[in-house]
Amino acid sequence: MPRSPLIVRTLPALRRALDGLRVRKATVALVPTMGALHDGHIALVRLAKRRATRVVVSIFVNPAQFAPHEDFGSYPRTWKADIARLAAEGVDMVWNPDVKTMYPAGFATKIITEGPATADLEDRFRPHFFGGVTTVVGKLFTQTRPDMAFFGEKDFQQLKVVTRMARDLDLGVKVTGATTVRERDGLAMSSRNVYLSAAERAAAPVLYRTLKAAAKRLRDGDAITATMAAAADAITEAGFELDYVEARHSESLAPVKSIKEGPLRLLVAARIGKTRLIDNVGV
Ligand code: PAF
Repeated sequence: MPRSPLIVRTLPALRRALDGLRVRKATVALVPTMGALHDGHIALVRLAKRRATRVVVSIFVNPAQFAPHEDFGSYPRTWKADIARLAAEGVDMVWNPDVKTMYPAGFATKIITEGPATADLEDRFRPHFFGGVTTVVGKLFTQTRPDMAFFGEKDFQQLKVVTRMARDLDLGVKVTGATTVRERDGLAMSSRNVYLSAAERAAAPVLYRTLKAAAKRLRDGDAITATMAAAADAITEAGFELDYVEARHSESLAPVKSIKEGPLRLLVAARIGKTRLIDNVGV
């Protein structure tokens, strides 16, 4: 039977556990998660295991990145299954603080980032989101002091924001993005996919299909405006309410007028029923 990772819940225990992990010049990788682990998270863990001698996974459903009307209360929590999966992957440690440990009474600090965090994509629809993400990820980095950290490309803007923050604040963490893991029909894996009804789940692959078709059109020389307008139509016709579908520069996330300004990334966010899905592809 695989050995369960060491589960750590307090800051003093974390310090002691990290001293234990860091023996003999070990390199430490962190995979930050909110639990409800799927194959996308496991791909991050496997990448982390290839690159570092020790792997820490954090599981913390971060209230600071949810608006009051969002799904903090109902966000899937699958602790036992998560730990079993991490044990099977040979993860060394799980950092699982509670909300009081992360945000003790009187907590009054927020990391506010600009650049990719104000690209007018996720930040337009979830204005609270990046302040919550950067504050918690900044804390996870200073608490666990990893040499490297791994994030999925599905949350493409988040990846850019966290990469920028780690550099700007000299946190000494190399942030690496990993390719999105998809279901067989192309739907990007996400902990929130469990919210989809059968009909919504059947419609959901349209996001990836549409992005791929748009990327091909752009590579074949079609104009960005017409291509993205057609993509928007395809997504709304499939029953989604569209937040955005846009072509952006893949590093700065700035709007682009022509493929010559690339490399480009196509990004989408759309709602179906109660579920909001995001996805992106390179051009
Ligand atoms: O992508 C996520 O799961 C979360 O935003 C993260 C990075 C773990 C911060 O809470």
